[in-house]
Amino acid sequence: MTTSAQRDGFTSTLGVLAATLGSAVGLGNIWKFPALTGANGGAGFLLVYLFATLLVGLPVMIAEITLGRRARANPIAALKGMAPGRPWWLVGVSGMVAAFMIMAFYSEVVAWVFAYVWKSLEGSALSSDAAVTEGAFAALVASPWQSLIWQWVVLLLIGGILLRGVARGIEAVTKRLMPLLFLLLAALCVFSLTLDGAREGLAFLFSPDFSRVNAGVVLTAVGLAFFKMSIGMGTMMTYGSYFRADQNIPQTAARVMCADLAVSLLAGIAIFPAVFTFGFEPTAGPSLVFITLPAVFAQLPFGQGLMFVFFVLTSIAAIGAMLSLLEVPVLVLHERLGMKRSNAIAVCVLIVGVLGAGCALSMNLLADWRVQGRNLFDLMDFLSSNVLLPLGGILIALFTGWVWGRDAFSRAVSNEGSLDNRRLAGGLVLILRYVSPLLIFIVMLNGLGFI
Ligand code: PHE
Repeated sequence: MTTSAQRDGFTSTLGVLAATLGSAVGLGNIWKFPALTGANGGAGFLLVYLFATLLVGLPVMIAEITLGRRARANPIAALKGMAPGRPWWLVGVSGMVAAFMIMAFYSEVVAWVFAYVWKSLEGSALSSDAAVTEGAFAALVASPWQSLIWQWVVLLLIGGILLRGVARGIEAVTKRLMPLLFLLLAALCVFSLTLDGAREGLAFLFSPDFSRVNAGVVLTAVGLAFFKMSIGMGTMMTYGSYFRADQNIPQTAARVMCADLAVSLLAGIAIFPAVFTFGFEPTAGPSLVFITLPAVFAQLPFGQGLMFVFFVLTSIAAIGAMLSLLEVPVLVLHERLGMKRSNAIAVCVLIVGVLGAGCALSMNLLADWRVQGRNLFDLMDFLSSNVLLPLGGILIALFTGWVWGRDAFSRAVSNEGSLDNRRLAGGLVLILRYVSPLLIFIVMLNGLGFI
């Protein structure tokens, strides 16, 4: 057991912001958000998503970080300590399961992204003929060895950064990478907006079509909000346990939420004008990033360089998110089982390697293994985003609102009274007690087809 005196943690306000934003910003912004927005009615979906982020995402994020900072421990120990003898700690266990499930498929997509950084250096996979880019992606996905090798490159890199610790690993890396990400993204946006299809691309992203918004779409938006903000599974509790005592939590969470939203919107603005300029369909999921975009890049001046920039940017986003995902089980093994941090990292990397291989192979050798039409990859994605994270969110909201209670929460969120945000804390408790759990619950029942 480590005592809090020796406990590693973030060292500066800026570092906290970079690491937390690094966790929120990820493939979700570039691979999920634009595609889901496009597929579910553009601005209509965007509005539902905004509501979900503000009413549910932000309060749960603040609650999670505050719980973590108060306990200064991993999510299981935190909940055990705050409600001794009661089963709330199971939320921490479910979070750990969710972390492994997400990493299983996430690490595979990151593997493809890394492979594409390489391909853009070589100039392969770049062709104005979408049939050729589709062939290149299909060849990558169909080759078990390529998928597995790139996945291990990702896991070793992430494991290596975590070995350096919280301040010297997570904080130092995200502090350098996040500004670079914004810079690259802004440059791509400026470029994209000068293209002929800019107007059509923006209309696709921002013109509302409410007829497409139904229960399933609302659940997708809530699931996306949870996935995007890395909440409902202990990531923010884990990072919260590294927050400085004088950090203003509501302000940090709000900044992270806004910056994360900005990255999502900028990604959409960078992608869709270019897609429309060359008459492509705005497809969803992996094919948008790995098939359509390389075909778009091939027709732009400096296409190869732009493709390189785009995939480097996507790798940066993915690295911060992966660090925070892996840190959840690593901290549990380290603190609860007393494992050395390095051993905990090795064990977790191995587990993700095995689960991830299942997901990678679900695209080729194991393609026939399906549950309700979903292969292992899609199943992990669906179960984590649409079931485990919202469920975790409900329980964390209820725990904070009812068990931890108003006064204790209010003291913790106001840094023991040094911040004047009692009213804010009171409002948050009301939302956490009634609004967030009820909303998520109804949305889940509806979206999963129970009512
Ligand atoms: N927020 C990350 C993204 O948008 C994914 C993530 C989910 C990271 C849950 C940590 C925990 O890609």
